Amino acid sequence: MKRVAILISGSGSNMVSLVESMVGDYPARPALVLSNVPGAGGLAKADALGVETAVVDHRDFPKDREAFENALISRIDAVEPDIICLAGFMRILTPVFLSHYAGRMLNIHPSLLPKYKGLNTHARAIEAGDTEAGCSVHEVTAELDGGPILGQARVPIEPGDTPDTLAARILPMEHRLYPLVLARFATGDRTPVELP
Ligand code: GAR
Repeated sequence: MKRVAILISGSGSNMVSLVESMVGDYPARPALVLSNVPGAGGLAKADALGVETAVVDHRDFPKDREAFENALISRIDAVEPDIICLAGFMRILTPVFLSHYAGRMLNIHPSLLPKYKGLNTHARAIEAGDTEAGCSVHEVTAELDGGPILGQARVPIEPGDTPDTLAARILPMEHRLYPLVLARFATGDRTPVELP
């Protein structure tokens, strides 16, 4: 059974979906939910689900990303996780953190990578006139949003879509995709998951 640390910055809906999946025969269990934002909505949800929580506030380490990451690493490693899942964790990570968890860290990103790395993915897909959008789970490497893709889910972009309506169509797909990819990854299977 793999132990999973989940890193969040916000509402934590993907974290909830992961935690709720980790029951029964599922090959992993949640060990920690950590946020860089004190009071992030996801912390109370993790608490209600009975998962240990922690906060490492990046603002306590002004202009010192490496000190922030070393604090993150020591708090995460205290629970001895096998896998790290970034789930709406909105900090850019340096090689200090990336190399420490190389080969065992996943991220979910709200675009069909390699398109639209970075922010404002839905607005960019609509502006480009794309007819489909979606989300990707990928292994985290040194290249921002650039590691091997382990799963994708696609949705149509409808006439009149706004970034909000498109996000509302994609988020439920994120909630389905991430647990499927994590289950495979936890058993050592990196075959990409394709949804629907
Ligand atoms: C999700 O849509 C996730 O794909 C996105 O943030 C949202 C977090 O929502 N992640 C990124 O943009 C990463 N660059 P949640 O906190 O409700 O899971």
